Amino acid sequence: MKTILTGDRPTGPLHLGHYVGSLASRVKLQNEYNTFILIADIQALTDHFDHPEILKVNTLEVMLDYLAVGLDPNKVTFVLQSMVPEIHELAIHYLNHVTLSRALRNPTVKGEIGEKRERGNGIFGIEEFDIPMGFLIYPIHQAADITAFDADLVPVGEDQLPMIEQAREIVRKINNMFGEGTLKEPEGLVGNFGRLPGIDGKAKMSKSLGNAIYLKDDPKTVEEKVRQMYTDPKRIRADIPGTVEGNPVFIYHDAFNPDTAQVEDFKQRYREGKVGDVEVKKALAAAINEFLAPMHKRRSHWESRLGEVEFMLLDHTQKARRTTKEVLTRLRERIGLKKLG
Ligand code: TRP
Repeated sequence: MKTILTGDRPTGPLHLGHYVGSLASRVKLQNEYNTFILIADIQALTDHFDHPEILKVNTLEVMLDYLAVGLDPNKVTFVLQSMVPEIHELAIHYLNHVTLSRALRNPTVKGEIGEKRERGNGIFGIEEFDIPMGFLIYPIHQAADITAFDADLVPVGEDQLPMIEQAREIVRKINNMFGEGTLKEPEGLVGNFGRLPGIDGKAKMSKSLGNAIYLKDDPKTVEEKVRQMYTDPKRIRADIPGTVEGNPVFIYHDAFNPDTAQVEDFKQRYREGKVGDVEVKKALAAAINEFLAPMHKRRSHWESRLGEVEFMLLDHTQKARRTTKEVLTRLRERIGLKKLG
């Protein structure tokens, strides 16, 4: 069985965009692969080192979301990054194999540096010298996340492909120097998971844009968010023909309403100016609520057992360390360092 590793930063509860983009495929893949899912709390610190208190509550939130969507603790191994010292030692070794200019060339990192500068984040001045080292090297640390588990495949969104490319480069350099088989070279697995727009119509649903429907949102909240959802702005009256293509209300209908006959009927009447937004949105809210209902059921089961959830995460992490210790030992032996006790 091949091994998958993927993960998330615990910076908030997960939303419908996460579901469409990655959680749905993880739920499927857990049956076909040895699956590790990493909660990258140390990586989250690279952006939130001044607010470390958000990590604990969000780690549990993310665990609850994982369990709610149907990731099965008997199939998946959950890992808390900060409890795996092997990852951090691997990262230190990898740093010797990445130049400063290569680190600065990572396209995702480059984009993020640009955004932080625009937002006027005090630490990110105009010179390279102003970038915190922890931020700059997070992709190298992520290479350690991936290789510590001998992962064959890393299912991720497009924005993470540069991380996998960088990991592959590090693996090739190390294997060249210390012998083939020292580390396993991972591959990215970019599914055709769509990208869900935000409820404001912006291209991406995201917590920081404040345009998300969370998996844990209750029916009233969902109704309210759907009621406010961006739709065709030229339709100020129900009898004005509207545009279906690219309209978030219909993108969501396609994604979450299993009643395709109803959806087709709405689309047709919308194009002809024969249906009001209120009716289309009411049906959408109902469909989303029905879609979320089984998740809420599983979530509330685990919510009343938070101690068990925390224990599960730590227990899984300890088991996962069998693999990470093996990988680190392999590298240490080949470098010629003392064997770990
Ligand atoms: N960087 C990823 C994100 O922001 C999270 C992550 C950390 C990750 N370590 C990983 C993803 C290893 C895949 C594999 O979404």
